[in-house]
Amino acid sequence: MAVGNTGWNALAAQQLRITQSGTTIKDLFDSDPQRVTQMTHRCASILVDLSKHLIDSDALDALLSIAHEQKLGDAIRAMFDGEPINNTENRPALHVALRGHVPPKMPEVADTVSATLQKIGSFVEQVHSGAWKGFTQQAITTIVNIGIGGSDLGPAMASAALRSFHHPNIRCLFVSNVDPAHIRSVLHGLEADKTLFVIASKTFTTLETLSNARLARTWYLSEGGTEQDIHRHFVAVSSNVPAAQAFGINSDNIFPMWDWVGGRYSLWSAIGLSIALATSMSVFEQLLDGAADADAHFLATPLQNNVPVLMGLLAVWYRNFWHCDSHVVLPYAQDLHLLPAFLQQLEMESLGKTVDRLGNSLPFQTGPVIWGSAGTNGQHSFHQLLHQGSSMIPADFIAVATLQGTEDQQQHQHLLANCLAQSRALMCGKTYEEAFEENIKKGLSSEQASRLAHHRQVPGNRPSSTLLLPTLNPHALGTLIALYEHKVYVQSVIWNINAFDQWGVEIGKQLSGPMFDALGGDTLATQSLDGSSQNLIKHIQNTARDLQNQ
Ligand code: F6P
Repeated sequence: MAVGNTGWNALAAQQLRITQSGTTIKDLFDSDPQRVTQMTHRCASILVDLSKHLIDSDALDALLSIAHEQKLGDAIRAMFDGEPINNTENRPALHVALRGHVPPKMPEVADTVSATLQKIGSFVEQVHSGAWKGFTQQAITTIVNIGIGGSDLGPAMASAALRSFHHPNIRCLFVSNVDPAHIRSVLHGLEADKTLFVIASKTFTTLETLSNARLARTWYLSEGGTEQDIHRHFVAVSSNVPAAQAFGINSDNIFPMWDWVGGRYSLWSAIGLSIALATSMSVFEQLLDGAADADAHFLATPLQNNVPVLMGLLAVWYRNFWHCDSHVVLPYAQDLHLLPAFLQQLEMESLGKTVDRLGNSLPFQTGPVIWGSAGTNGQHSFHQLLHQGSSMIPADFIAVATLQGTEDQQQHQHLLANCLAQSRALMCGKTYEEAFEENIKKGLSSEQASRLAHHRQVPGNRPSSTLLLPTLNPHALGTLIALYEHKVYVQSVIWNINAFDQWGVEIGKQLSGPMFDALGGDTLATQSLDGSSQNLIKHIQNTARDLQNQ
């Protein structure tokens, strides 16, 4: 895809046509009674309403044309066939194999996935039944997952989302930040003899995770645990078995990972161990099944009805032709409150690139900033900017149609009403005339009503998708996450970038070593730094010295 391609030009012309005609999303509903039916799709149990987008059928056709121009169909098949689509690391991206879509040419992958699932299942069974005992012969009641990025966000998000499916005797906590405040606050009040640490790190080299794991081990020993019993309290998930063993983890307690699963795509692998421990193996399997259904949909559905394809193409439409810099994710479900953070990594690590697959500079914008939080809270903080701010920010509303149990139905109805009202308000806005009329009805003078109406008018015409889950169950959650994974892949294919590497993350890791040494007083390391860093370090050292001398 490049600026100047036929498809790109056609899309630019479509954007210009819509802008110049002044067509609004509301107009598109008025002119096409079939719009809702045609633009509402299903993926497994999830209903996806794409009708509130600033796009008509001609522009959508132009978007589908660039998908064909970029050979999206072939690219989808290449992923499922296990082609090395992660070209900078010469690897396939086989998260779909973890959900049962194993490339026929790789039967060994099927074997290793199924053996790992069995190992997870049998471990979960031992912990849940109480057969797995801590150093005082008591059952485990607390799991602490230590990981970061994909080794934290996926399991933490899914575990929070599946709160209603939690095992009654197990609580699962997550530690990620290298700030000792995080692990100290989690460890506070825990009973070491009933605590199991899952050290989740694909590489087993990540500084944050290893520092926290070491601190956890020291804490465990200080709380009465012994070296001899460490295997009862520390297990690992990693592709780096020697490093996990060197840390002191018994090889039987190392759950495998593979280089063909990216960190942000790894919750379906043994990185999901904490999800299964927090809930049950059956819940974890339903999660995988839900994702497998989204995979089947992505692989087999014609592009014009393919939900992740349409979501990805719409993201390209807004990023490149309407110049939207950010995209907001608004789950109207408190249990999905970690979804925006999870999607931040998924989308921004995958699409935050400025070169194409061959390393050529791209002449257009790629991944937008992804942000958001659970509704309705955002309505009382940042939604003001969504409604009246100067930028158009496309939104994803994610809602759960029904609440199980009867007690809280009315409150749930308030939640849904707010969700639907927000997407409608973004689309419809409020004209100056409507605001003026409201002011008059409130008893304001005509002069006051006019002055205030300028502030109360809301532009509207702001696009959104609504994704409706039947209930927040593991199957629907699996489908939802996989939909987003595939949406990201679609964007990467249109932009011709590699969605599966993250070289930009390396630079911070490389620079933190010398910075650590400089903070510790190493003169040579300090001299190699820029003026700002040197000054900040000096200030930190002086502050520490002053505090000591007090
Ligand atoms: O630093 C970024 C990253 O590499 C992510 O891609 C990954 O999910 C995270 O670090 C954790 O990596 P690991 O599982 O190897 O500790």
